Amino acid sequence: MTSTISRPRRSTLAVPGSSQKMIDKARGLAVDAIFLDLEDACAPAAKPDGRRTIVSSLNEGGFEDKVRVVRVNDWTTPWTYRDVVDVVGNAGSNLDCVMLPKVQGPDHIKALDLLLTQIEKSEGLEVGRIGIEVQIETAQGLLALDAIAQASPRIETLIFGPADFMASIQMKSLVVGEQPVGYDVGDAYHHILMSILMAARAHGKHAIDGPYLAIKDLDGLERVAKRSAALGFDGKWVLHPSQVDTINNTFSPNQGDFDHAENILDAYEWCTSVSGGARGAAMLGDEMIDEASRKMALVVSGKGRAAAM
Ligand code: GLV
Ligand code: MG
Repeated sequence: MTSTISRPRRSTLAVPGSSQKMIDKARGLAVDAIFLDLEDACAPAAKPDGRRTIVSSLNEGGFEDKVRVVRVNDWTTPWTYRDVVDVVGNAGSNLDCVMLPKVQGPDHIKALDLLLTQIEKSEGLEVGRIGIEVQIETAQGLLALDAIAQASPRIETLIFGPADFMASIQMKSLVVGEQPVGYDVGDAYHHILMSILMAARAHGKHAIDGPYLAIKDLDGLERVAKRSAALGFDGKWVLHPSQVDTINNTFSPNQGDFDHAENILDAYEWCTSVSGGARGAAMLGDEMIDEASRKMALVVSGKGRAAAM
C-alpha cells in the first residue's frame, strides 16, 4: 500500500476539475492534499472536458508535495466508470488516490477496487498503489461503516460529507456543519463524527472532516474544525485559500502540547531504562505517566513531527 497513509492530511483542498485556472493556483497552496473534482463542482456537460483537464494537469505535475486525489462521481450516476478509466488510465502514475462519494456499502468499494486493479494491470502500473478515499454522506453509508472500512486494503480515509449527509437524514438546517436550529441538547454531529472516527481507528484509516461552506466566516470554520480536531480527526477540507491556515493550525498539535508529549516520552524512556524495564509508571511533575500515557504522547508527537515535515 502507498505510503501516503502516513503523510499528514490536515488540509485537503477541493478544486473543480473543470477549472484550469483554479487547478493552476492550487499548485502553490500549502495544503497537505488536493482533490480535483469531477463530482458536484463539475456540471454534467463539463465532465468530459473536466476529465481531460485533470489528466493533463496531473501529468504536467507540480503537486508532488501533496497527496494527489481525484473525486469521481458515485456509482448511482452514469459517469463513474468513464471517470475512473479515463483519469487512472491516462494519469495513473501521477495520482495517489481516487475519492468515491456517497458510498453506501462495501460493494461500492469492491467495484472500484476491481476496476482500479484492472486498469493498473493493463497500463503496467504497480497494482494496489492507488488508494481509495471514502466519503460517508448518507444514512446507509453511516450504518455500513464497519463493512465499508474493511472492503479494500486500498482505503486510506473515511471522510464525513456534511452537506449531503444533512440532506440524506433531512436535518433541519441549511447551514452546512452548523447545529440545527431548535436542537439545544448537545452537538447534533457527535454521533456521526464519533462513528466515523471509531471505524477509521478500528481499521487504521485517516478520519477527515468535510467542508465548511461559509468561506468568509473564519470564526465559524475554526469553531467547527476544533470540534472534529478535539475528537481526534486528522484533518478537514478546505474550499478556499483563505481557509488553509485555520485548518492547518487547528489540526497541528500546538507547541505546548507537542513539548508536553516529548517530555512524557523522555520521562518514560528514562524511567524504564534506569529501572532496567522493571518500572511501568513514572512521575513527570505532578503527573503520573504509564504505558497508556506514552501511547497518547506518541500520537501528539507523531502528528507534530509529520506537520513539520
Ligand atoms: C461533501 O461532499 C459534502 O457533501 O459535504
Ligand atoms: Mg457530498
